[in-house]
Amino acid sequence: LARAQGCPVSAPAAEFDPFGDGYQQDPPEYVRWARDKEPVFYSPKLGYWVVTRYDDIKAVFRDNHTFSPSIALEKITPTGPEANAVLASYGYAMNRTLVNEDEPAHMPRRRALMDPFTPEALKHHEPMVRRLTREYVDRFIDDGRADLVDQMLWEVPLTVALHFLGVPEEDMDRLRAYSIAHTVNTWGRPKPEEQVAVAHAVGNFWQLAGSILDKMRQDPDAPGWMQYGIRKQQELPDVVTDSYLHSMMMAGIVAAHETTANASANAIKLLLQHPDAWRELCEDPGLLPNAVEECLRHNGSVAAWRRLATRDTEIAGVAIPAGARLLIVSSSANHDERHFTDADFFDIRRENASDQLTFGYGAHQCMGKNLARMEMQIFLEELTRRLPHLRLAEQQFTYVPNTSFRGPEHLWVEWDPADNPERRDS
Ligand code: HEM
Repeated sequence: LARAQGCPVSAPAAEFDPFGDGYQQDPPEYVRWARDKEPVFYSPKLGYWVVTRYDDIKAVFRDNHTFSPSIALEKITPTGPEANAVLASYGYAMNRTLVNEDEPAHMPRRRALMDPFTPEALKHHEPMVRRLTREYVDRFIDDGRADLVDQMLWEVPLTVALHFLGVPEEDMDRLRAYSIAHTVNTWGRPKPEEQVAVAHAVGNFWQLAGSILDKMRQDPDAPGWMQYGIRKQQELPDVVTDSYLHSMMMAGIVAAHETTANASANAIKLLLQHPDAWRELCEDPGLLPNAVEECLRHNGSVAAWRRLATRDTEIAGVAIPAGARLLIVSSSANHDERHFTDADFFDIRRENASDQLTFGYGAHQCMGKNLARMEMQIFLEELTRRLPHLRLAEQQFTYVPNTSFRGPEHLWVEWDPADNPERRDS
């Protein structure tokens, strides 16, 4: 119909709605038609160009000059004057961090802050991740039923994120509420009434981030990525700015926490939906690293990312004007038959699983990817070893409506505690 009226937007493109149930339940399935027939389309509802195929998305990620990441954290739904006034009342001034910084500022900052992410540096965090995971599993192992999101997968990555950043373990529930508000604020579509409550939470989060940073400045030799940044600021004040540190203090918690919590919940859900794969992992933990990659490919926690076209260009033969906003649906790339054979099939032995684009690609590729992988692997190691008889409970999965961050809000699992190996063996 839209075409018949002379509009260049096709009917499914006109209907595309990433806040509706279709996208929320299964983003790659929801845009299958686009991958097949109209791989780059304009969404009038969103005001974005949507990119859905693997090669095109990789090319967009690769060229961060033509496709600027500056809008990566921009509010996808602009807030109204009331919410803006609330944010201003808290002195909210979230600015560029790394993920949304353009060149030439980005690369020197990324290099200056990279050392804490090397494999040797990350090894120091492994015992803490394992200890926390065991403690949380201990709490529910005899219960026979648990919501893994509420009882483990939310708080463990949050605690790991806080340790990694160097933040004292304080007020987790407050941080938890704040980071949900931040997700809705950035990637969601809150109604005007909701926007004001969200703005208060985000404003409080911003101020808390500022006060935590002030405390850190008193003891800059303490361990932590933020303290590392504070020390680097002495050496490179133009590269590691005050604005960067305050913004990263807040954005860093979200980057390191929710992404990993969601990825872990998605992975466990997916594995329990494929009991043969779960059983294989229980029998052979050597399969875990590739299984983690396949989970990130098949059902990762970042469904889509954003870029801004800085000049007139084209993607897959479609003209893209300067100033165009792009939603690059990386979860759709991960299900592209042109790159992954039998792409919808879940195969923990898939050879090219690690080609997944859930961590992005190129100059901005996720710096924390190996920390996230380590956490996911440890969660799966501990659960397959201690609860091999785990199964999914009957439930409806719900998601916080937004374009990008994706994971079930709850993940109910069940098992018979009488069959726990550690009970049988003791
Ligand atoms: C960037 C995903 C965990 C820190 C990114 C990007 C994505 C992403 C999509 C943007 C990539 C691009 O523009 O090409 C994820 C996922 C995670 C995860 C799916 C978990 C499964 C973490 C963790 C940390 C972290 C644990 C920190 C400890 C960062 C940083 C950047 C980034 C600092 C900015 C890099 C830059 O722009 O140079 N991540 N992330 N992430 N991530 Fe992650």
